[in-house]
Amino acid sequence: MSQLIRSPAWQALAAHQKKIAAASLAELFAADPSRAGRFTIEAGGILLDYSKHRADAETLRLLAALAAQAQLPQWIAKMFAGDPINSTEGRPALHVALRARDAAFPAGRDVMAEVRGARERLRRFVGEAHSGVLTGASGRAIADIVNIGIGGSDLGPRMLTRALRRHHKPGPRLHFVSNIDPADLDAVLDSLAPETTLFIVASKTFTTAETLENAGRARAWLEAALGKTADLSRHFAAVTANVAGAGALGMPQERVFPLWDWVGGRYSVWSAVGLPVALAAGMDAFEELLDGARSMDEHFRTEPLERNIPAVLALLEIWYVNFFGAQTRAVIPYSEDLRDLPAYLQQLEMESNGKRVDRDGNEVDYDTAPVVWGASGTPSQHSFHQLLHQGTRLVPVDFVVAHESRPSTAQTALAANALAQAAALAFGNPVPDAPHRALPGNRPSSTLLLKRLAPRELGGLIAMYEHKVFVEGVVWNLNSFDQWGVEHGKILARTLVPQLLGSGEAADLDSSTRALLKQLRKRD
Ligand code: F6P
Repeated sequence: MSQLIRSPAWQALAAHQKKIAAASLAELFAADPSRAGRFTIEAGGILLDYSKHRADAETLRLLAALAAQAQLPQWIAKMFAGDPINSTEGRPALHVALRARDAAFPAGRDVMAEVRGARERLRRFVGEAHSGVLTGASGRAIADIVNIGIGGSDLGPRMLTRALRRHHKPGPRLHFVSNIDPADLDAVLDSLAPETTLFIVASKTFTTAETLENAGRARAWLEAALGKTADLSRHFAAVTANVAGAGALGMPQERVFPLWDWVGGRYSVWSAVGLPVALAAGMDAFEELLDGARSMDEHFRTEPLERNIPAVLALLEIWYVNFFGAQTRAVIPYSEDLRDLPAYLQQLEMESNGKRVDRDGNEVDYDTAPVVWGASGTPSQHSFHQLLHQGTRLVPVDFVVAHESRPSTAQTALAANALAQAAALAFGNPVPDAPHRALPGNRPSSTLLLKRLAPRELGGLIAMYEHKVFVEGVVWNLNSFDQWGVEHGKILARTLVPQLLGSGEAADLDSSTRALLKQLRKRD
């Protein structure tokens, strides 16, 4: 049995779980009239109501003790100090530096000069794009910008560009392509003109197959329309930590924006990877996004664990995963503009903590990251909420709601639906004599209320989730900053390409893969 499971804090929670499991949310609310207020925390334009969780003050105290036992405050200090906490890759995880204001940060390894320099270059580029100075080979102003990237080089900018729809400035339109399936790029290019299209090739490593393939096809598309002699470099920019690799593929040096090995891909939207966000909403909005993240960093670094939003969310997740056996968590933004949030969080949470070997190399004997999934409300209500209300599984939910100061009738209905779903999950609906219609209730959720759907609040929200993931990793004793699990599949795919193209059969393949290859090789 692992040290974690044997630990006094874990054992105390296991004993306490029996008491809480026997109580309903309705009873917990009845026992404490001030519960809603006491179980609410506000920071950085975000209000977290966690009162509809199967927890009482004692639960939170015991969970905080678990975090303290895992030395969470010391780990937070290590992250902000730039210690090499990404142990398997021997480097720091310094995404917090990307939104820091300090003149020098962190102590002993100052990265701020580079960070500020990159931000200045972004500001200039965004200015050129918005003023029409950015032109293609024929001299016409760039009207469409396509971000080619995948994973962390796609999901963050894609999600935030959509989320900030109402803050977009006049300027080039933004598009996103990630899939190696040519259908993805083709569908975008269908409506674009080569003369006025620019591609941002975003890849930390500049070795990712999907991105390089799409970049090559984009170049061929430009060349076919503009001719071999046209200056195609005017149609490209790149974001990468591999400047040489980008240069080798013809990316113009003055438009290669930097990234660093101390930023993980899924934590990189605060860097030049966020360029599409700045192009869509303006550089001032991008800086406000950073400001929002910075205020969440401050909250995370300084607030006691019981009043610390990322810590409370993480500890509640641990509570359900490890003490109630929850396998999944749903994220349901009641905002169409935030509809890409679940996909973004899937990478952030599952690539970070979807692991079964701890920092010391031992296989864990407790569950780690749950499956994160979701979709925007209200369409989700007409799809999977049936299971949430009456199914057999415990699925904690994050409801994300954006406050509107002058809501339209439809926006009022949207917010009403979010609150109604959270209340129905928590308190159910007894229907005597008709069990098929009854909602049992007692199903937990958090409500995250954003003061407004604006850059600052979004920065806070995303930083909040980043730190939540970090806290979980600390308690589960994981390195949240590597992703070795995705490497093997990439290598295998590379070896299968020649097999699909050729006719030979590799003896070392399993019989199922061999048979499927045979089917796929068939030509009409
Ligand atoms: O899926 C693995 C991964 O390495 C992610 O962590 C990363 O965000 C993505 O691939 C893209 O990597 P890159 O930015 O280097 O192209």
